[in-house]
Amino acid sequence: MVVAALVSAACAGTDGQPGPSGANGQPGAKGEPGSKGEPGPQGDAGSGYPGPVPAGYAAADGIKGGTAYSEWFATAAGGKGSLALAGVTVGADYVRCKSCHAWDGLGNAGSYAARTGISTGTSSRPDVASVNLRATIATSTYQELYDLVAQPYGRPMNAGFDSRHPDYSKALEPAQVWNLVRFMKEEWVAPNELYELQVAGPPMHYEDVAGARTLLSPALTYSNIGTTGSAAAGKAIYAAKCAGCHGPTGTTVTLEGMTLGQFVRAKPNEAWFKIKFGQGTVMTPGLVKTTDDLRDLYKALASTADFPD
Ligand code: HEC
Ligand code: HEC
Repeated sequence: MVVAALVSAACAGTDGQPGPSGANGQPGAKGEPGSKGEPGPQGDAGSGYPGPVPAGYAAADGIKGGTAYSEWFATAAGGKGSLALAGVTVGADYVRCKSCHAWDGLGNAGSYAARTGISTGTSSRPDVASVNLRATIATSTYQELYDLVAQPYGRPMNAGFDSRHPDYSKALEPAQVWNLVRFMKEEWVAPNELYELQVAGPPMHYEDVAGARTLLSPALTYSNIGTTGSAAAGKAIYAAKCAGCHGPTGTTVTLEGMTLGQFVRAKPNEAWFKIKFGQGTVMTPGLVKTTDDLRDLYKALASTADFPD
């Protein structure tokens, strides 16, 4: 029931209403499979949360799930190795979870608040979703989350230029879906544990400004990177796990034209995700796993004296 309300609220702002309500009818019905059979379909909403732990969840790997959130088709995420092998013919951005839900799961209310999509002039990307996945996670059972990710609803996987949640029911293996669910529940670090983000202004929209149709975006400001972490502890982690490739001050590898320190200061929403869940073949998943270590690392990398631009 709670989830139903969230879904319909979320849909108000998006363009793809038809699917989700169908998806949503099911969670209750499917909730019981593995275990002892809690009450009825609706029992979960209040008392049963988060429900019995399904076997698939217990066996899942939340780190792999994080890797999948970025690129579910990658081998490291248990995928087939490429989009083509997964049968995907649309651009990657139309099927990567992070494209629509953002690294922080807050969609267009968080770190992707000023990211353009099809309705704001960038056809290679979908619009960022207006659902708050973090809220969904906090109120959904394991099985409900599974169903929200992988039930056949949303839009056909290869529909072009469509910002609705894709139908992953055939694209993802059940184990991958459970990995995603476990990632969402256990491994997804809440943004304010690592940095602060201020989003100022109304959501992206077009407005008539002095006679010209103008795209207005909110202003994003990151601050307090590393929050209460220890820079000294972070430097030790860096020396042990990163300096070999990134160099003593983070200047060896150029990242989108930036040094490592610069990258972390400009994109703290994204850097930790790569550090924890990997990227490509060089950055292996699970390099730094705990939130404490990530916080320390961020505190160290926030210093322009130690990790210059
Ligand atoms: C093309 C954009 C897009 C992609 C890619 C996408 N989603 Fe979604 N997702 C949405 C939208 C929009 C909604 C809101 C409901 C709807 O329209 O289906 C949604 C809904 C959800 C929900 C339910 C949230 C709620 O409260 O309604 C979950 C959970 C979810 N997505 C997880 C994922 C995961 C995990 C992936 C990757 C495997 C993913 N999504 C990929 C756009 C996307
Ligand atoms: C084996 C070598 C290696 C190690 C060890 C390594 N990195 Fe990297 N890292 C790279 C390379 C190469 C890239 C650029 C690769 C790419 O873009 O695919 C990169 C990219 C990154 C990125 C940017 C990702 C992006 O979105 O472009 C960040 C952030 C990062 N590394 C941080 C770290 C931190 C912090 C550590 C230590 C915990 C670390 N790396 C350890 C080689 C390494």
